[in-house]
Amino acid sequence: MNLVERSDRVLSRVLSHFTELEIERGSGSYLYGLDGKAYLDFASGIAVTGTGHCHPEVVRAAMEQLKKLIHNCAGVTYASANIELAEKLQKIVPIKDARFFLTQSGSEAVEGALKAAKYVSGKSGIIALQGGFHGRTMGALSVTTSKKSYTDGYGELLPHTFIAAPDLDSVAKLNNGNIAAVITELVRGEGGYSALDREFIRQLRAYCSEKNIYLIIDEVQSGFGRTGKMFAAEWFDLEPDIMSLAKGIASGFPLGAVVLKKAISDAWKPSAHGGTYTGNPVACAAGVATLDILTGELPRMPAKIKAVEEACDRLIAKYPRVFIRRQGLGYMIGLVCASGGICGALRQAALAQGLLLISSGSGGEVVRLAYPVTASIPELEKGFALLDRAAGEL
Ligand SMILES: Cc1ncc(COP(=O)(O)O)c(C=O)c1O
Repeated sequence: MNLVERSDRVLSRVLSHFTELEIERGSGSYLYGLDGKAYLDFASGIAVTGTGHCHPEVVRAAMEQLKKLIHNCAGVTYASANIELAEKLQKIVPIKDARFFLTQSGSEAVEGALKAAKYVSGKSGIIALQGGFHGRTMGALSVTTSKKSYTDGYGELLPHTFIAAPDLDSVAKLNNGNIAAVITELVRGEGGYSALDREFIRQLRAYCSEKNIYLIIDEVQSGFGRTGKMFAAEWFDLEPDIMSLAKGIASGFPLGAVVLKKAISDAWKPSAHGGTYTGNPVACAAGVATLDILTGELPRMPAKIKAVEEACDRLIAKYPRVFIRRQGLGYMIGLVCASGGICGALRQAALAQGLLLISSGSGGEVVRLAYPVTASIPELEKGFALLDRAAGEL
């Protein structure tokens, strides 16, 4: 029995799969299949392994921590790993003098962000933007509209939650005076690696400040170098009130963070929120190593952005029946295909060539280029050469 068959006998079918690829291990920008083949990984476990697979520094940091302490529960005793991670994060996030609540996933970071906004403002309403994705738990799902299938079948979700079109008039119309926060991504992940309009975000920031509404920026997918800057907010010159982070933060260890302005954090009273695994020491040690690696990589990003933009433009010009355009921001690029069917066929052809791709967009029509942040220019060029060969087969 292969892994697909074994999985089917024991794991819930609720989890959908992009591929049936069975892998043994990963190293750098490559995954190695049980079939003995190497696969260039342009999926990064859905934009998580920004430092590549099993980066030696991440492995070393996690192993050292494993030998010292696996779990203490930060609510029971103090240990250094979560504090060290937060100290490093404080220096790089786009919120000045920020405070952190550490989580195990992006959804949980979004839950924390929504809870903090409601608790501290004393208001219960949340406005989210049409087409956004914020996760699968009940609160996060309530602000998710990127695909109907995510919410269908779950009945009534969080009350006082409103969905606006991504323009200021629509947001303002939904402001009933009881809005705690507006939540949005800056570059959509599930929504097809598409960036929100810079001028709209500028207006939204000003509007939220004027109306005493918190602006929650969800950088679960766009954070940690994915756009070529540490955070997408830097491209927008934006200081959010609250942020949700996860995915790339710890190279694959389950870790996330709610980032809060100090005044918001100070008003979120002890025991109003919590968690058994908050700031797990091994995940945090991996996170510290991850931040060091990504910080060192940032100076190389402009050259890589240029390389991937040019490669995308060449493909679009060469295969106009396959590719329509590119979208996104910096390094975070979505290649829009003519249809979801074409994108699916392209992904299959690419996999046969040794290139792992995933898609996003409401109809799965966008190739979501989630190569590692640390991928070298030759690796990126190799990936695009494989993509070219795959497109040529359609
Ligand atoms: C922007 C955004 N927010 C939240 C989430 C949820 O994160 P997780 O899957 O870790 O719960 C995701 C996951 O794709 C995401 O892209």
